[in-house]
Amino acid sequence: MPEGLACLRAAATRYNIDIQLDDKFGDWATCARYAREGAMLPDGWKDVLASYDAIYFGAVGDPSVVPDHTSLWGSLIQFRREFDQYVNLRPCRLMPGIRCPLADKKVGDIDFWVVRENTEGEYSSLGGHMFPGTEREFVIQETVMTRIGVDRILDYAFKLAASRPKKHLTSATKSNGISISMPYWDTRVAEMGKKFPDVEVDKYHIDILTAWFVLRPEIFDVVVGSNLFGDILSDLGPACTGSIGIAPSGNINPEGKWPSLFEPVHGSAPDIAGKGIANPIGMIWAGQMMLEHFGYKEAADGVMRAIEQALEHGGEDVLTPDIGGKGTTKGLGAYVAGLIAKA
Ligand code: NAD
Ligand code: IPM
Ligand code: MN
Repeated sequence: MPEGLACLRAAATRYNIDIQLDDKFGDWATCARYAREGAMLPDGWKDVLASYDAIYFGAVGDPSVVPDHTSLWGSLIQFRREFDQYVNLRPCRLMPGIRCPLADKKVGDIDFWVVRENTEGEYSSLGGHMFPGTEREFVIQETVMTRIGVDRILDYAFKLAASRPKKHLTSATKSNGISISMPYWDTRVAEMGKKFPDVEVDKYHIDILTAWFVLRPEIFDVVVGSNLFGDILSDLGPACTGSIGIAPSGNINPEGKWPSLFEPVHGSAPDIAGKGIANPIGMIWAGQMMLEHFGYKEAADGVMRAIEQALEHGGEDVLTPDIGGKGTTKGLGAYVAGLIAKA
């Protein structure tokens, strides 16, 4: 987060944008806060955050202190639902200077968006846990697909595909096995497709789709999926481009009625937390998406160029270990901020 903020500040100065960054919420949505107060967020959080244009969000989760479902349903998932951030937009792009774990791929070969439904689907609170601890114990968790919910994410994904040169949309399904919700999803995709005759549509069941991500990632342009499928694809995609540490995410309320939220795709990385070696690019790129979202195109392009240059020319001493270097979070963050400032 400090590296992300430094880059945003550098961009604001360099491109003369008046961004007011209020960083007084460092204790909100933390497991430390939960341990102290018994809640991830204070009462009245929604009104406070709703008065901002956007939320720039770090990662949550310390499973040694608070169960993950408690910390995440008490923070990030609430934000997505309460602020109707129904689009989760996540780029998968092979960046210059990154060694691709897939053989023979070069910059330009992997460049697509995952559009993830972000407020319903498999992430529902409908269900129950009955007769716990007895032989009759059972659990049910329902999937919710509303017509409004499915259509609005498809509309967004089709429009995004229509705006790109390839005009190609892939739908993630599993209508062979999940026999009620997924055939419904497919029907809505086919229906929406009629409104976008220029967009070529294909669909894959999620199992083979994950295989194609690894074997033929160059065929993708825009990939739309339900909440859970989109979640899985948006870790797999960035992993195929070198590291999940560089991937950003926009949780967007397209109507602008509520603040959108920009964050890295990755989590709190407990295995490396405190070592000072987490890759800051996911956080910085999330800031770039935020600038783009508000129409600061020149600044967004400037930050993107700085990220690319840092990855291409930063070298072993600057890049973090997840992308083959020996550098630190601070070092890489400062390097990108420096490039933004002197562009
Ligand atoms: P994770 O993304 O935190 O970590 C997975 C692996 O990726 C780890 O080996 C980690 O070291 C590595 N990694 C992650 N970010 C990195 C970075 N910036 N640079 C270098 N390496 C990086 O996923 P997880 O282990 O499943 O989850 C850990 C915790 O984070 C859990 O509490 C989980 O619920 C939470 N989580 C939160 C968010 C969020 O707040 N948006 C997202 C995912 C997971
Ligand atoms: C993500 C994360 C979250 C999700 C978790 C932490 C609840 O994995 O943003 O991708 O599943 O949406
Ligand atoms: Mn995820």
